[in-house]
Amino acid sequence: MTKETIFLFILILQFLTGVTSRKTCDETFCGKLRKSPEGYPRYNLDLSTIITEDNGIAGDLISHDGLYNLKFTILFEPPLVAFIIANIVDVKGMNPLRNTAADSLKLEKSTNETITVTFGTEKAILYSKPFKIELYSENQLVSVINGNNRLVVQTSPAELVTALDVVFHGVQQAYGIPLHADNLALRTTTDGRTDPYRLYNHNNGQYQLKSTEALHSSMPVLYTHGKGRSSGIFWSDVAHLWVDITHGYDEIETYFMSKTPYIAATLCSRPSIVDVMSVLYVATPNLPPYFALGYHQSRNSYANENEVLSVVDNFNKNNLPLESVWLDTNHTDNGKYFTWDPIRFPNPVRLQNQLALENRFLVVTIGQHIKVEKGYFVHDELSAKRFYIRNPDGSDYVGDSLPGDSSYIDFYNPSALEYYTTLFSLETFKARNLHVFLDLNEPTVFKNGHYENTLPPYLLHSPSIPHHFLHNAFGSTQLIATFEGLLKRQERPFIAARSHSLYDLNAGPQIIEDNFASWEHLEISFPMCLSESLVNINMCGANVGGFAGIPDDELYQRWYQAGAWLPFYRAHFAADVPPREPYMYSEQVKARVRRAMYQRYAHLPVWYTLFWENTIFLTRIIRPLFYHYPHEEATFTIDNELLLGANILVAPILKRDVYLMSVYLPGGENELWYNIDDNFKVFRGIGQRIVYVNLDSVPVFYRGGGIIVRKDIPRLTSAATVKDPYTLYICLNTTNGASGTLYVDDYKTYSFAENKFLYLGFSFSGNTLYGYKIIKDADYDGAAPIEDIVILRPPKNITRVSLNVRSIFYDNLGTIAYSSDRKVLKLSNLSLDLREPFELTFI
Ligand SMILES: *[C@@H]1O[C@H](CO)[C@@H](O)[C@H](O)[C@H]1NC(C)=O
Ligand SMILES: *[C@@H]1O[C@H](CO)[C@@H](O)[C@H](O)[C@H]1NC(C)=O
Ligand SMILES: *[C@@H]1O[C@H](CO)[C@@H](O)[C@H](O)[C@H]1NC(C)=O
Ligand SMILES: *[C@@H]1O[C@H](CO)[C@@H](O)[C@H](O)[C@H]1NC(C)=O
Ligand SMILES: *[C@@H]1O[C@H](CO)[C@@H](O)[C@H](O)[C@H]1NC(C)=O
Repeated sequence: MTKETIFLFILILQFLTGVTSRKTCDETFCGKLRKSPEGYPRYNLDLSTIITEDNGIAGDLISHDGLYNLKFTILFEPPLVAFIIANIVDVKGMNPLRNTAADSLKLEKSTNETITVTFGTEKAILYSKPFKIELYSENQLVSVINGNNRLVVQTSPAELVTALDVVFHGVQQAYGIPLHADNLALRTTTDGRTDPYRLYNHNNGQYQLKSTEALHSSMPVLYTHGKGRSSGIFWSDVAHLWVDITHGYDEIETYFMSKTPYIAATLCSRPSIVDVMSVLYVATPNLPPYFALGYHQSRNSYANENEVLSVVDNFNKNNLPLESVWLDTNHTDNGKYFTWDPIRFPNPVRLQNQLALENRFLVVTIGQHIKVEKGYFVHDELSAKRFYIRNPDGSDYVGDSLPGDSSYIDFYNPSALEYYTTLFSLETFKARNLHVFLDLNEPTVFKNGHYENTLPPYLLHSPSIPHHFLHNAFGSTQLIATFEGLLKRQERPFIAARSHSLYDLNAGPQIIEDNFASWEHLEISFPMCLSESLVNINMCGANVGGFAGIPDDELYQRWYQAGAWLPFYRAHFAADVPPREPYMYSEQVKARVRRAMYQRYAHLPVWYTLFWENTIFLTRIIRPLFYHYPHEEATFTIDNELLLGANILVAPILKRDVYLMSVYLPGGENELWYNIDDNFKVFRGIGQRIVYVNLDSVPVFYRGGGIIVRKDIPRLTSAATVKDPYTLYICLNTTNGASGTLYVDDYKTYSFAENKFLYLGFSFSGNTLYGYKIIKDADYDGAAPIEDIVILRPPKNITRVSLNVRSIFYDNLGTIAYSSDRKVLKLSNLSLDLREPFELTFI
């Protein structure tokens, strides 16, 4: 064995034998609940207690032995149906829906055993003995609540848990409830060998692949989908949660087990999955600053100013794009956040200003784990004001984290949150050119295996909320506080984090935790990010090249090629592996990485438009195939391909030695797919097709009917592309039409809120390209012009082009050239202003 292989071997061994602190279902409250109803009371609905209000119906659930009494409320606001089950009387404050619907509840029928109510097109039948609810949408049975009679609500201090079964009808697959290192389509967990999907944010170290174990983010939204029906459930709490899934014939059975004192959930069912997703999702959409969408470089850890500058310099010298360099805790003075190491980073302001000259940024780690050290101004303030999370005896909790002994900021205390935001003021944290990474914000507590390396559940938040009630939200509370803090110093904050929750702001990427340089880890990053995308966590990415371990050249370049098509594109590697920035590699590898990066940059207008459209329409950015082909059953389990918007299909190469590849192309005989790396060779969407590949790229297809807006001049930053002209790729469909959109603004401020933007539509029909403003009263004067137009499967014998702008005609515009096989036409040397509606006719 060579020295290198021995090194690698030791690393892998360390990795495989690394201690994980993962708990199984049986080791938590889940074990007993999973056996329910054994050991728990069962309930009847007392029909005499039923009351109906304008959009809801409420009643009492009485246990068979008469000892337990629960209050139950169901509320309609189509397309949503919410329900609450609790043992407290006043559930009004918990109403997750406001009644803005025009309809009102109608009591249709009542017998001695059931009550039927309707609300617009929604219907519920409430059964008394035993209690269950059938929900119908447009007269189709879509779900049954407590159909298996496994409802649990236990609120004694000794056992504080809830559980509920919900069965979805007319569906074949289930998705969502990320984050798990598993396939996109959820599996049956009730086979006797599998634990339920677990949602409990913690640092799971060397997690297993194809597993239901919990990682560092938790989003309690689950979707089910079938050929004619889609449904979803939002389980609105942020405590420890387990979810069992069982696939039945044309139905999916779910069982939610949660460490909360009440149940509050929202359901939705519609014929279209996109409709369900536009109302059931987590996180507020947010438009990222442009640089977020470029390429980022991180390692554990760039040691000092000179190293940062030399990384940037090497990217420049090698013509490799770069947006930001990331620094971990070691940029601080001994682990004290909001300070700088005086030797490594003696002049952070100068460094940031120097980077700003070429539109590069620094991203630094900030923790909520604050070093316990007298004289450190942040700690002194937080401890004097009692702003830390406390032990039950009232003392500040101290755990081990990156800086050593640390206490944890209690963001549930509004004054603590306010103080934290002031730390981002320019006086404290000098220079503007700085963005943050909330590393280990699950939060991580090292050497705390008994509590799975996170905060113990019994700790107390202000005023006296046990930590376990809000555990899964902790990471997001810091995110929200940081967002507020950064707003005081800059526009459009960029905040990366590992731990996200349903309250997320989409203010930066979901970083997938410490992955390994293996093909399996590359492969799993696609279903993981697709799953995040479904629930609306928009900017997901896994460390390109893997964090631990050493990738060989083939894996390395494949990862750069594939990673360019996930929303967040960053490489990050461990302290104990040799440096692996792309410029460290051979010219050959470097050329392939560069090509992948340039392809990413060429499509930045597409990414940015999709991010903006998400903020308005809640359409997702990356999408599994079934999102657009919901009736095509073969797409339901595909998670090694993705759609970027509706018009780009990516089939990344996730395995070694691939020379021909089977790619699933959806849509049927009339859907055309153009392979962009093979002279736009056209395929029909009739399922698995063989594509020949080499090491230079991964298969990417444009959909016939789409217009893709690109910027094709290679640049080293996203900022440098802003003034470059656009190229429109018009991909004609079988009826020779195509359409697309483009969003443009200043890429960094909130001036879009004052209507300073362009949202444009393009459509091609009858040999004419139309360009127009979709939002007429918005305008922006900084957009670059369209310079070139490429038409795939173009009309024949085009000899000239005429332009009509405001009824003024221009003839013989630009330069027309057909490719030698006449399958591509390029019109170049235009200078079309995007602000004016135009008609461009090919004659
Ligand atoms: C409801 O009424 C039917 C007949 O109308 C009767 O057979 C049944 O036992 C009743 N159920 C209950 C729970 O009283
Ligand atoms: C970070 O700093 C710690 C403490 O100073 C040191 O032990 C460690 O080696 C440093 N890590 C890197 C990657 O520089
Ligand atoms: C082709 O694209 C045009 C424009 O988007 C659309 O109107 C037309 O329906 C499409 N034809 C087919 C067969 O999809
Ligand atoms: C295009 O031009 C060629 C040669 O001038 C001619 O043979 C052909 O019929 C033309 N095709 C169309 C669609 O007009
Ligand atoms: C581009 O267009 C300009 C005028 O619009 C013309 O002067 C120039 O020669 C054209 N260049 C090419 C390469 O066709």
